[in-house]
Amino acid sequence: MQAYKNVYSEAQQDPEGFWLEQARRLNWFKTPKVAAQVKKNGLADWFPDGEVNISYLALDAQIEAGRGEQVALYYDSPVTQSKASYTFNQLREQVACFAHVLKQQGVEKGDRVIIYLPMIPQAAIAMLACARIGAIHSVVFGGFAAHELAVRIDDAAPKLIITASCGIEGTKVLPYKPIVDKALAEAIYKPRTIVYQREQCQAEMQEGQDTDWERALTTASPVEAVPLPATHPLYILYTSGTTGKPKGVVRDHGGYAVALNFSMNYVYGLKPGEIFFTASDVGWVVGHSYIVYGPLLFGCSSVLYEGKPVNTPDAGAFWRIVQDYKVSAIFSAPTAFRAIKKEDPEGEFMQHYNLSSLKRIYMAGERLDPATYEWATELTDLPVYDHWWQTESGWPMCANPVGIGAVKAKPGSSAFPVPGYEINVLDPLGKSLRSKEEGAICVRLPLPPGCLTTVWGDEQRLHSSYLSAFPGYYCSGDGGYIDEQGYVFIMGRTDDVINVAGHRLSTGEMEEILAAHKDVAECAVVAQPDELKGELPVGFVILKNASTIDHEQLQQELIQSIRAEIGAIACLKTLHVVPRLPKTRSGKILRRLIRQVLQGDDVAVPSTIDDPSSIDAIKKTMR
Ligand code: COA
Ligand code: AMP
Repeated sequence: MQAYKNVYSEAQQDPEGFWLEQARRLNWFKTPKVAAQVKKNGLADWFPDGEVNISYLALDAQIEAGRGEQVALYYDSPVTQSKASYTFNQLREQVACFAHVLKQQGVEKGDRVIIYLPMIPQAAIAMLACARIGAIHSVVFGGFAAHELAVRIDDAAPKLIITASCGIEGTKVLPYKPIVDKALAEAIYKPRTIVYQREQCQAEMQEGQDTDWERALTTASPVEAVPLPATHPLYILYTSGTTGKPKGVVRDHGGYAVALNFSMNYVYGLKPGEIFFTASDVGWVVGHSYIVYGPLLFGCSSVLYEGKPVNTPDAGAFWRIVQDYKVSAIFSAPTAFRAIKKEDPEGEFMQHYNLSSLKRIYMAGERLDPATYEWATELTDLPVYDHWWQTESGWPMCANPVGIGAVKAKPGSSAFPVPGYEINVLDPLGKSLRSKEEGAICVRLPLPPGCLTTVWGDEQRLHSSYLSAFPGYYCSGDGGYIDEQGYVFIMGRTDDVINVAGHRLSTGEMEEILAAHKDVAECAVVAQPDELKGELPVGFVILKNASTIDHEQLQQELIQSIRAEIGAIACLKTLHVVPRLPKTRSGKILRRLIRQVLQGDDVAVPSTIDDPSSIDAIKKTMR
């Protein structure tokens, strides 16, 4: 505990010195002398005089350090029955040649490239190739439907889209190219496309619009990584906010590299040469930070897994990966472990594998519920760590300081603030709350390196989403408390963002889609607790007076439109037609109250409610 306190206070008292010291551990083209320049909005530009390239750090610097023949990336795909591995030498060759392909397509420094790929090595190669030439990638999760892709195309205005012929979900082959074509038909921007053809499904190519990945590579030769200002944008990663328009979180090269490098040991306790298995998707921040950039730039090998925790083929899948690649640490979402627990509560599948390499288990993406924590701990007899972070932070904000000496974990808590993050719990007026009092979880500005630098093309949204609620603080959107010993407990979102199977989704966006139906007068979408997925969205709709539509037909149409617009991952499967919704006298729908009904909690009826009988109407529908 003392070691933690020392490091934390060092970062707090001398942030410049602390982060410059961390920066020195990386190979810069130009080593920074200045740690941070704080901007008017309170955020900092990290290492403003440094020059670096994260693709160089992840590949070339590792080779220079003698790791050329070490495996950088293991690809394991039970859904295609295939495996592959790439040494740092091989991965650099692939990345450097693909960077040439990008240049041949006219992609230059600062241009955006959308990557819409399943969990195949080409996703990591495309990301690293963009970074190599200073292009800004924006990976869109393969589970998003065409409309979501179109919204991102129009916001990022990319020069190119990189996709594959298909993704594979369990036994389903999902063609991607028709989704991209549909998105391009909807979008205002019409970038060209590179397509990676997979043997499970061939995409139809359009002359002049689509380029075949493999064919383009036949004329490519490796290109070097270009030196970039540390503040140069590396990527835009869209995340759900409270409206239908996702926010493009922007991250830099230099600050991100320094933060990830620090976290690989401090949070994950890893050493170069060890194997890290992050079971997530490159479409999420976890995939960016701990499947691709973090492990590679720290000299670890990363496992890129195209499969599910269960059913590909069974609940032993994660344990097989641990055995096959001698994994030291595994990281996934609690929902994945709940899925394993459901199929294999006694860990019988686990018994078939040698887990002697595995030192610890990490979970994030949603709160690690105490029941899953206890189960995983007892089953594996290993330390299990919850840690808290967001797309916006890019790396953990609260974690157990494993690398400098783990502290005793408390079920339900993501442990302590990571050095660089000063976490405060504030009341609605911005007053700091005492221990155990629940309020808004905020981080004092400036944020440490690695965090968002802006919202793409929308400084105003940066301000309104994160900086305006509590001046001087970054508002995380999560609520929770800190106990007397300083353990942080993150209890859930305070806004209209929900978490379905570790996927962050906006109920506001779902409401916009429901409200667009010709028969719907008003609607609300709220989260209902779910044993497996954490939360599931439930919709409530009020029909227009003149509507005569059959309720069942309406429900099917609405469920289908959510799948078509957002994607199947939204999992909106329950919809109720209600005569009215609980509202304040000023007309604001009381979603919190509906949530309480869904959770079976005592309903705290506010004095501002317009019509108290609306609650009974909801209860009646639920019966
Ligand atoms: N591409 C296309 N479709 C996808 C997809 C992808 N990458 N991922 C999910 N989907 C689809 C599924 O096929 C399913 O479609 P269906 O309704 O037609 O069957 C739907 O979206 C819901 O999928 P999912 O949420 O994965 O539910 P599931 O019941 O198939 O699996 C879990 C449940 C818990 C095993 C799974 O959600 C999981 O592994 N979650 C972990 C998520 C994670 O790692 N998050 C990252 C945070 S660190
Ligand atoms: P994302 O941006 O998709 O990574 O989702 C971030 C959100 O997931 C956070 O704002 C939290 O609501 C939730 N979250 C992630 N990790 C945790 C955790 N360890 N404990 C509680 N909530 C978490």
